[in-house]
Amino acid sequence: MAKAKKLFIKTYGCQMNVYDSERMAEALGGSGYESTSRADEADMILLNTCHIREKAAEKIYSELGRMRDLKDAKPDLKIGVAGCVAQAEGQEIMRRMPLVDLVVGPQSYHRLPAMEARVQAGEKALDTDFPEEDKFEKLKARPKMARAPAAFLTVQEGCDKFCAFCVVPYTRGAEVSRPVSRIMDEARDLVERGVREITLLGQNVNAYHGRGEGGDYSLARLIEALSDIDGLQRIRYMTSHPNDMGDDLIAAHGKCAKLMPYLHLPVQSGSDRILKRMNRSHTADSYIKLIERVRAARPDILFSGDFIVGFPEETEADFQATLDLIRAVGYGQAYSFKYSPRPGTPAAERPQVGEDEMTDRLRRLQALLTDQQRDIQNAMIGRELDVLFERPGRMAGQMVGKSPYLHAVHVVAPEAKPGQIARVRIIRSATNSLEGELV
Ligand code: 5AD
Ligand code: SF4
Repeated sequence: MAKAKKLFIKTYGCQMNVYDSERMAEALGGSGYESTSRADEADMILLNTCHIREKAAEKIYSELGRMRDLKDAKPDLKIGVAGCVAQAEGQEIMRRMPLVDLVVGPQSYHRLPAMEARVQAGEKALDTDFPEEDKFEKLKARPKMARAPAAFLTVQEGCDKFCAFCVVPYTRGAEVSRPVSRIMDEARDLVERGVREITLLGQNVNAYHGRGEGGDYSLARLIEALSDIDGLQRIRYMTSHPNDMGDDLIAAHGKCAKLMPYLHLPVQSGSDRILKRMNRSHTADSYIKLIERVRAARPDILFSGDFIVGFPEETEADFQATLDLIRAVGYGQAYSFKYSPRPGTPAAERPQVGEDEMTDRLRRLQALLTDQQRDIQNAMIGRELDVLFERPGRMAGQMVGKSPYLHAVHVVAPEAKPGQIARVRIIRSATNSLEGELV
């Protein structure tokens, strides 16, 4: 047998990219590639990129620059760029970076094996189409390897919302939902291979509307069907848009025991003036009312959110409205960003907020969010939670797992194995994790 070639994939950005990277590795497995975690021993390097903010995109060019030495040392090394920067700037990458052999957009991964063959023959390969066929169906099935207890499963891709700051509708295209039967098959397969927790992924996952037996499925109906799978213990989903939180999905948080009490529900701003300019089509008040309805269904649910500071024309009063909203909601966790103008998006053309002002607002916003996170974590001390163990920790006999609320929890449990769920009493809170002991 020919010696396996080595594939190194570096993943940037969101969980959808993490999932895509796994699927690309599997697809190239059929072309004789094994994964490696070392760029210097790779025969092919793929950068799976993110275009959401300018910094993320610029990183790719500097990373490619650093690869010149590797390519000089090993002229047969093939270098590819995948993901959203590939989609948005494919031609530009090929032009600026002659060392790149292959550029593949997120909708074309099923064509990777054919592209790889062309690259091996000394050609360059670029594919940033939005093909009609479903890339997930054409990608090779996952090989039957054991899997870690928590896995991602993409059920929906793309976005039709066109928030004024966001490149996703351009890089990932229109909303598409995968059919129910494929998702069920993939979920069953994951569970057979040891997965206990599945996070359903989509850019607008709660806009999911897939075809299935007996008609159309909403995300809530899909979750209900998935929760019938024996051995699957936990279900999560992300990322959601406030406008797509259907009544049935809210109700599912109260009824479905496997659906975990955690919801990532980005709001971006608490100012109605800015929300309007962002084209978010919800208000601060409608968002807070929605939070209250979800809490009524599942009182202990923990919310996380995304925030942008310094959106064009954001005033101090607008920013204060965001702080007020954060105080009204009480987030367990959150992601916050300075606004970054993205080429081709409407907001990029509007009057920008100064860098120093943005930096100052981000600092104040993060201070508030950090306080909330700390208070909510401290309130967990003394509580007993079910923790799904995922991997051994750094200390001897220690395991690291997840609480239902998605906290990382460190526990001394020398007998425990990844995949087990144990009752744990929380005894301490650290910056981004909890510490517990077996009950
Ligand atoms: N600038 C800053 N943050 C952005 N996001 C999306 N586009 C931009 C941008 N142009 C943030 C939003 C989104 C998250 C994934 O990234 O908060 O929810
Ligand atoms: Fe981007 Fe808005 Fe779509 Fe989210 S909902 S992917 S922020 S356009």
